[in-house]
Amino acid sequence: MNVKPLWAFATLAALAMTTLTAHAKYNGEDRGRPVMPTQTHAAWQTECGGCHLAFPPGLLPAASWKKVMTGLDKHFGTDASLPAAQTQAITDYLVKHASNRWSANTAPLKITDSEWFKSKHRAGEIDPAVWKRESVKSASNCLACHGDADKGDFDEDNVRIPK
Ligand code: HEC
Ligand code: HEC
Repeated sequence: MNVKPLWAFATLAALAMTTLTAHAKYNGEDRGRPVMPTQTHAAWQTECGGCHLAFPPGLLPAASWKKVMTGLDKHFGTDASLPAAQTQAITDYLVKHASNRWSANTAPLKITDSEWFKSKHRAGEIDPAVWKRESVKSASNCLACHGDADKGDFDEDNVRIPK
């Protein structure tokens, strides 16, 4: 007679553990899903896709995008500043579609500095020498290995590390 409640308790405890573990993943620095919204944005595509991939909004939390967008005049050693109206429109787009799974109180400027990124690209998975290859050059160069990154496709099954 006591078996059923005990079993139910064990199930609940297991569920609670799963939830806790899920929240602790990447120390709470997790990307949203899907990382690329179905809604496109012309100015974002043109202005943020000129020097590198127009990074999908769901890869960073809203606070990161706000930081990136308020510092465009000093953007990783370049001046990427835009007229105020355009800056505002792009910020709104990025913030609206930012990661919805980021529970940490952090806002890295770089995707490549985030815990989820470091975890997915750790040395055990990718030989550190790969990052220095002429075909890769920088960890920011997502397209080198994720050929459909511009469509928001980062599926592990579609990764091809170039020679
Ligand atoms: C004038 C060129 C230029 C433009 C325009 C530009 N960026 Fe960048 N961006 C860079 C450079 C250079 C880096 C550093 C890349 C590296 O470290 O290899 C960078 C890096 C980044 C990173 C960090 C990437 C990482 O390593 O995680 C983000 C996020 C980013 N840019 C967002 C934007 C957004 C949003 C816009 C549009 C408002 C934009 N960029 C427009 C040059 C540019
Ligand atoms: C040198 C090649 C390389 C570059 C450059 C690279 N990645 Fe990856 N990425 C990989 C590999 C390999 C994996 C699969 C790791 C594994 O098996 O766990 C991966 C996994 C991922 C995943 C997880 C996919 C999944 O199915 O869970 C995401 C998201 C991702 N990368 C995003 C990015 C972003 C964003 C950039 C650029 C800022 C980037 N990657 C740059 C090689 C690369």
